[in-house]
This record gives sequence, C-alpha cells and structure tokens, in this order.
Amino acid sequence: MAEINLLDRLPPVKRNVAQRAADKTPEDRAIAKRFDRDFFDGERRHGYGGYRYDGRWIPVAQRMAEHYQLAPDAKILDVGCAKGFLMADFKQVLPAATVRGIDVSAYAREQAHAGMNAFMDLGSAERLPYPDHSFDLVVSINSIHNLPLEQCKQSLREIQRVSRAHKFITVDAWRSEEEHQRLLQWILTAETYLPVDEWVSLFAEVGYAGDYWWFIP
Ligand SMILES: C[S@@+](CC[C@H](N)C(=O)[O-])C[C@H]1O[C@@H](n2cnc3c(N)ncnc32)[C@H](O)[C@@H]1O
Repeated sequence: MAEINLLDRLPPVKRNVAQRAADKTPEDRAIAKRFDRDFFDGERRHGYGGYRYDGRWIPVAQRMAEHYQLAPDAKILDVGCAKGFLMADFKQVLPAATVRGIDVSAYAREQAHAGMNAFMDLGSAERLPYPDHSFDLVVSINSIHNLPLEQCKQSLREIQRVSRAHKFITVDAWRSEEEHQRLLQWILTAETYLPVDEWVSLFAEVGYAGDYWWFIP
C-alpha cells in the first residue's frame, strides 16, 4: 500500500478554477451528477465539456504495466471506466490482456471507444459484479469519491475483494487549506472528499490495501 503518482505521464491540464467557482450552481451540480451526455460532452460547467479520445492514457497504461510487472495476459478492471479510454490503451500496451470496465453511465457505454462497450458493465462501484480475487489489477481514477461516504467505503472494500494482486485509485483530496478551498471551488460531482491523512485512515479502516494518489485541482 503506497502513495504513488502513476498518472505522472498524463499531459498537464489547465483548469479555470475561478471560472468554475463563479459559474457553478446547484442545478449545474445536479445535471453533472446524472453522468449523461451533459457531463461528458455538454458545456464545461456541467463536466468535461467534450470527453474525447486522444491517446493520453497509453503512457499511463505503460507506466502501470511496468510498475506492477503485469503479465501479458493480465486481467485488468477499470472502475468508473467512462468511455473506456484507459481500457483501450491497456489493450494497446498489453494486447493479450483481458480488460473489463464498469460505470454507472449508460451514455458513456453507448459512446464507448474502439468497441470497448463489449467489455463494459453498467453498474456501481459499491456492488462489483465479479467474483473474489478475479483481477490482477483494479484501477479506479477519480470515480469512487462520487459516492457518499458509506458507499465510497463499500467501493473500497469491493475493489479490495475483486483484486488478487494490485489496486490503484485516485480520489479528491487536499494537503493544505489552500488546496481545500480550490477543491471546493472546483468540484461538481464529488460527495466524499477528505484531507489526505483522513483518506489514509479510511483505507485502513475498510481494509483497502492498494495504492493511491490524489486529485488536487
Ligand atoms: C471524473 S470521471 C472519470 C472517468 C475516468 N476514470 C477518467 O479518469 O477519465 C468519473 C466517472 O465515474 C463514473 N461514476 C460515477 N459514479 C459511479 C459509481 N457509483 N460507480 C461507478 N462509476 C461511477 C462516472 O460516470 C464517470 O465516468
């Protein structure tokens, strides 16, 4: 179990935090939280403002494959897989791997990249429809913090349960009051966000023994 940034090969993203804070209304948050077209491909104030494939996850998949020394035929699960970009990029890096994804968004699955919809399940992170110890690597990037605390905890237990080896998650967090304020200005969909030390305590409480990193805008 380690704090490690396995997303360090992603290109830097410019976020206009002040603009988001000035614009965002409770209605915008409610729209974003439906995780439908508005969140992925609608206006920026409702989410991504256009969630399109650009290959940025290939270096991340490479980094994870190297770090965890994944076998060519590894079984990999992405919890909160959206349109399957990371899944597709794992297949580029490890063509013999079995990739699976799960997400609550029917829209994201309809819009899946490169035929990944065939390997996606519609469902929620706190009830993973897979047997115990079925994946070599379970990844969940910026997804389980969208659940309220108890369900978020259950998601961590589920990730632990279905993994037989490695796990990596990222969640909304902060290390200073300044970062806390920026996060509050930025977040649209998150329900559970904590200072990093409280996340680490929570991981121990629920028995999550995987690796982790932070989304800090
Ligand atoms: C910020 S996006 C991250 C998508 C992708 N992991 C990435 O990093 O590009 C959050 C994702 O979590 C999904 N999501 C929200 N609640 C979820 C839940 N309860 N279970 C599984 N996925 C969920 C959303 O539909 C969305 O695809």
